[in-house]
Amino acid sequence: MEDSEVYPAIGEDGFQRLVAAFYRQVPDDDILGPMYPKDDMEGAEQRLRDFLVFRFGGPQHYIEQRGHPRLRMRHAPFAVSQAARDRWVQLMDRALDETKLLARAEETLRGFFHSTATFMINRPG
Ligand code: HEM
Repeated sequence: MEDSEVYPAIGEDGFQRLVAAFYRQVPDDDILGPMYPKDDMEGAEQRLRDFLVFRFGGPQHYIEQRGHPRLRMRHAPFAVSQAARDRWVQLMDRALDETKLLARAEETLRGFFHSTATFMINRPG
């Protein structure tokens, strides 16, 4: 389905469950765990959720709170190697499997995550 149809299809609840399923795996992950703010995992969860809601046709809370996404720039402080990218995608794929969203919404999101994560690579190795 079109990007803008995803939020109408799965709602706030779909994004909430997806992002929670992703972040549940992060703290214990040997590559990603150390990169995220231990004392602000709720904040990190909210930023990703708000971004996705905005990006896929929902309310613009992300823009109001954080401004233009400029995701590559915001990721510059984090060492996103091919291995980190692959792990991020692996955890998100697992979150998508677990959340069982409407199949056509899931397909759109999966494609977006795979290509955006590749675009985020900013270090060799
Ligand atoms: C490719 C591997 C990736 C790694 C290792 C990674 C890592 C991180 C880390 C460590 C943060 C800081 C956590 C925080 O918000 O405090 C972050 C923030 C964020 N990431 Fe990623 N990320 C990756 C891919 C992605 C992808 C594919 C997306 C989009 C679908 C994304 C969207 C975001 C957003 C929206 C934020 C919050 C930005 C802000 O407003 O400050 N990330 N990421």
